[in-house]
Amino acid sequence: MKIYKKIPRNFTFEDYFTTNDSFLWNEDAKTIFSKTTEKPFIDLLVTSPPYNIGKSYEQKKPLADYFEEQREFLNTIDPYLKPNSSICYQVGSYIPKDIGVYPLDFGFHRIFEEMGYKLVNRIIWTFGHGFHATKRLSGRHEVILWYVKGNEYTFNLDGMRRPSKYPRKTYYRGPKKGQISSNIKGKNASDLWDDIPHVVGNHVEKTDHPCQFPIALPLRLIRGLTNKGDVVFDPYMGVGSAGAAALMEDRKFIGAEIDTNYVKTAKKRMIAAKKGELEYRHLSKSIFDHKKSNLSKARKYNKAEIDQFLKEKGMQDVDINTLYQMFLESGISDV
Ligand SMILES: C[S@@+](CC[C@H](N)C(=O)[O-])C[C@H]1O[C@@H](n2cnc3c(N)ncnc32)[C@H](O)[C@@H]1O
Repeated sequence: MKIYKKIPRNFTFEDYFTTNDSFLWNEDAKTIFSKTTEKPFIDLLVTSPPYNIGKSYEQKKPLADYFEEQREFLNTIDPYLKPNSSICYQVGSYIPKDIGVYPLDFGFHRIFEEMGYKLVNRIIWTFGHGFHATKRLSGRHEVILWYVKGNEYTFNLDGMRRPSKYPRKTYYRGPKKGQISSNIKGKNASDLWDDIPHVVGNHVEKTDHPCQFPIALPLRLIRGLTNKGDVVFDPYMGVGSAGAAALMEDRKFIGAEIDTNYVKTAKKRMIAAKKGELEYRHLSKSIFDHKKSNLSKARKYNKAEIDQFLKEKGMQDVDINTLYQMFLESGISDV
């Protein structure tokens, strides 16, 4: 697997992919197709672009300039996307120092609409941890915008199923009474994804990258929106999570990344993924149930602690017995 900084002479992706399965570009994404005039060859663009929030790899700029740059970029690569291809743009919110949060999908939707793409789903990806805000509610979701270029797009629902809630549920009347009623293949994954934790802390996929995709996220999209042998493109590939997912599913992959260290990591991860040696968090792994942890059990307070608490609150005159009774009845604490 080679990392390119220049496009070889007389290069076409069509020829290249007859003998290779991935093309890694270590330059600005907008230059990747500058030497190519071939017919459209991309089946799925899946990415998480820089969010303009001042991460180490981006320069924070006025939002209007950010969207103008993205509009220009998307129009440059649009000719290489096939007529019924899909685009999945995973974005969060732009958060200024003062108030005025701007969900980036508001701005991207305008661009994609202008370009003639149709929105199929706006998927909410929710996760349990993150920054604890003090002047607003803490953000615990981002979105994946799934657009298509034509009406005959690929959609393999079976590639995007989740285990049924009640797999043993049966028909309770009619000719099928007693037979299993839930789909043995699982249920439609829906547009609310709460089963994919993001990559933080001691997540098995964690690298040096500050905001990498969990592999399961592009994996579900690739399974559902492409077929074997199709070409997947991630213009901001970071450490190659979409690339690893694409190769694991026998798709071809094109990735661009401006940072040389991230491309090197991407290459290593993709080679391991091809060999089936990359450790990742499988979609089938259930989310950790915090209620099973002893840490989540209500703490026991003793009388002295409660007296101290009431004193601090200036409530020492409250009838203590009534209060203790309230605590016991609420079930939140033993006294
Ligand atoms: C949100 S991260 C994507 C992370 C990726 N999904 C992963 O799983 O690792 C955005 C990436 O885009 C890269 N980037 C920023 N501007 C770029 C550009 N003009 N061309 C190519 N890559 C760029 C950054 O270095 C960063 O790694």
